[in-house]
Amino acid sequence: MEMEYKTFRGNLKMPVIGLGTWGIGGGYWTPDCSRKAEWVALLRRAIEFGYRMFDTAEMYGGGCSEEIVGAAVSSSGLPRDEFFIISKVWPNHASYNDVLKSAKNSVSRLGTYIDLYLLHWPSREVPISETIRAFEKLIDDGLIKFMGVSNFDSRLLMEAMGAAKKHEVVADEVKYNLSDRFVERDLMPVAVRENIAIIAYSPLGTGSLLNPSSKGFEVLSRVASKYGKTPAQVALNWLIGKPNTVAIPKATSEKHLRENLEALGWRLSQEDVEQLEQAYPIT
Ligand SMILES: NC(=O)c1ccc[n+]([C@@H]2O[C@H](COP(=O)([O-])OP(=O)(O)OC[C@H]3O[C@@H](n4cnc5c(N)ncnc54)[C@H](OP(=O)(O)O)[C@@H]3O)[C@@H](O)[C@H]2O)c1
Repeated sequence: MEMEYKTFRGNLKMPVIGLGTWGIGGGYWTPDCSRKAEWVALLRRAIEFGYRMFDTAEMYGGGCSEEIVGAAVSSSGLPRDEFFIISKVWPNHASYNDVLKSAKNSVSRLGTYIDLYLLHWPSREVPISETIRAFEKLIDDGLIKFMGVSNFDSRLLMEAMGAAKKHEVVADEVKYNLSDRFVERDLMPVAVRENIAIIAYSPLGTGSLLNPSSKGFEVLSRVASKYGKTPAQVALNWLIGKPNTVAIPKATSEKHLRENLEALGWRLSQEDVEQLEQAYPIT
């Protein structure tokens, strides 16, 4: 399946669907590299299917996820610039020196630069201006190409953007799916105005959207059968049809990897978008 792209502030060009890697290589700061070869093979398959963007973090498996992403990308035989790698620094490393150290370690595990580096969550201790200053140094030094934030509401995002002096904050990675549409109220108007990328995480509601007994599923599956698509494909297509939005579903089976890419290459009608949104109101 051929990838689709969107372009944002600062000439940031991103695939509209990427692969989330939470749980691939371990859990919360807990490495599990025992299945590394298996995971690398899975990501290589994903690349063959057409994935070009990976979302990882220093926290995911305490860095093992980054090693897996790096190994898959470097062994793919494709030019590095065909890929888009997102990684994140955990907020307890948000100080100037710690950001530089974390990024260096992430780049070393990945074996390559990071396309987009995010502060994973707002820090309560370190002013955002300090973190942004470190991000700008990382861009100047070539370790990262773009900088952004994650789990920032519109107010915090504007604060981060205001702190940027030399380079721009270009993206905010947030939870966004049919059953969790809060960002449409808060973040999206600002993202559209400022041309910031909204990277939708948990785009399948961590899988719960696809539970037949979940609220709204009846409408989701009715719309899906109308297009000859699956509920997952409709849920993802709905997201990438939204302004400034790209999505990073996680999948660990070849079936799901393939299925999710089939959200590309077509669009829901406005009428069906409205049907879905009535079934999944903003709460
Ligand atoms: N920035 C942040 O704070 C933050 C927070 C959470 C997540 N994230 C990122 O966002 C990514 C995605 O979010 P997520 O992992 O929370 O949830 P998700 O992508 O909404 O859902 C993943 C779950 O859905 C299942 N699934 C995937 N495709 C499917 C399909 N076609 N049919 C049926 N089930 C399917 C997966 O199962 P299988 O594994 O069996 O395929 C997995 O259990 C993460 O991996 C991570 O990279 C970022």
